[in-house]
Amino acid sequence: MKIDAQAFQTLVADYQQRVDTSLEHWLPAEDVNPMRLHRAMRYAVLAPGKRVRPILVYATAQTLGIDLDRVDGAAAAVEIIHAYSLIHDDLPAMDDDDLRRGRPTCHRQFDEATAILAGDALQALAFYIISHDPRMTADSGARLEMIEKLSLFSGSRGMAGGQAIDLAAVGRSLNIAELETMHIHKTGALIRTCIQLAALSADELDPERFAALDSYAKCIGLSFQVTDDILDVVGDTAVLGKPQGSDSALNKPTFPSIIGLEASREKARELHENALRALSIFDEQADILRYISAWFVEREN
Ligand code: IPE
Ligand code: IPE
Ligand code: MG
Ligand code: MG
Ligand code: MG
Repeated sequence: MKIDAQAFQTLVADYQQRVDTSLEHWLPAEDVNPMRLHRAMRYAVLAPGKRVRPILVYATAQTLGIDLDRVDGAAAAVEIIHAYSLIHDDLPAMDDDDLRRGRPTCHRQFDEATAILAGDALQALAFYIISHDPRMTADSGARLEMIEKLSLFSGSRGMAGGQAIDLAAVGRSLNIAELETMHIHKTGALIRTCIQLAALSADELDPERFAALDSYAKCIGLSFQVTDDILDVVGDTAVLGKPQGSDSALNKPTFPSIIGLEASREKARELHENALRALSIFDEQADILRYISAWFVEREN
């Protein structure tokens, strides 16, 4: 689909609305027992995040000509895993942050035990959706493969592993390769999953296109976290909706702290160019993915 900047904004807003409807569908209602846990789950998930992961699921589906109804479940599942990771990331035992998406963090609004349980329950809910949503695929082999991808990329060899590397690195200086490994795991892995879940929803996909999309995903997964590190230095708390300066307060190794701000910006731009190169086998049907890559490095929140 050929789009311009205006059309991109409209699509992003449509996708955000679309996944919010899907999330509302899958989240237990506030008046269902145990109510405090369900309130905490809804509080964290439905807070105004950017929904970049669902947007990637929908954009990939659109690029591949897949009906969006078929990926509503995948879009909700990745956002729910992400929301769980944020709840746990903000806990006193991890980054100890008080503000998330412009609101008190889950453990501040509720309490630590409820926040831990909300994260646990959200993780389980994501797998429930992938295994259960009847619209996703009629092919149980493809469904199993989706479950495999989501579990692999969110577990100890993916996101949770990246978080472990992050915590072990506090106060230490990492070299660039170690820093990249940390970022590729803690953030890149879930971003890769978005593309893969959408691709697995296709009736068939040739390996060359799959490989191109996966290389694109690896580039933007890293650029997203490099930019997150930059925004921790130059961003504004009110715009970010989370505390600026949290990384330096905790002495976290980040791209700016290790290679400096300008080199970090250069790194993000380079990754954006590599992402565009990875998409070169696609025509204008992949324009939306190109815009997403640009957004990931230009964003202010
Ligand atoms: C923040 O993710 C945590 C990272 C992995 C960098 P987002 O920047 O996508 O946060 P929300 O979902 O918009 O709140
Ligand atoms: C978080 O990285 C990555 C995950 C939640 C998996 P950060 O700790 O940098 O995220 P923010 O800056 O708190 O959003
Ligand atoms: Mg963290
Ligand atoms: Mg954090
Ligand atoms: Mg950060």
